[in-house]
Amino acid sequence: MTNKHLVLFFMMLFPFCLSAAADVTAGANEGEATYKARCKVCHGEDGVPKSSAKGSPAFNDQAWKDATSVEAIEKVVAEGRKKMPSFQNKLTPEEIKAVSAYLKTL
Ligand code: HEC
Repeated sequence: MTNKHLVLFFMMLFPFCLSAAADVTAGANEGEATYKARCKVCHGEDGVPKSSAKGSPAFNDQAWKDATSVEAIEKVVAEGRKKMPSFQNKLTPEEIKAVSAYLKTL
């Protein structure tokens, strides 16, 4: 391959790299948007529960994050628990996954 061919090759690859990076941020942003629209009222912007989320741990507590898997969060969000509403008829499985992953970043 000549240098010219190499340059052409990377120019062709570049858009694919860009779109893969955009997908990852779209997932995280989607989780954040869902959290702000659906969870923040009770769980607070930073994950510290308001009185309407009494009984819930703070999501920004490192000990809670270490002890809790994303799968366990997905289950509570989908099925609900006591005063925690069920979201399986309000959010898609993808949205539940994204918002559960977002909790771990608070
Ligand atoms: C109407 C208020 C309300 C809303 C809205 C709400 N929650 Fe909750 N959530 C609660 C309450 C209350 C609890 C505590 C349940 C209990 O007593 O076991 C809770 C508990 C949880 C827990 C369990 C944490 C643990 O490990 O014990 C998770 C995870 C959670 N909520 C995530 C969410 C997410 C994600 C959303 C948005 C999609 C959301 N919640 C929306 C009230 C709410």
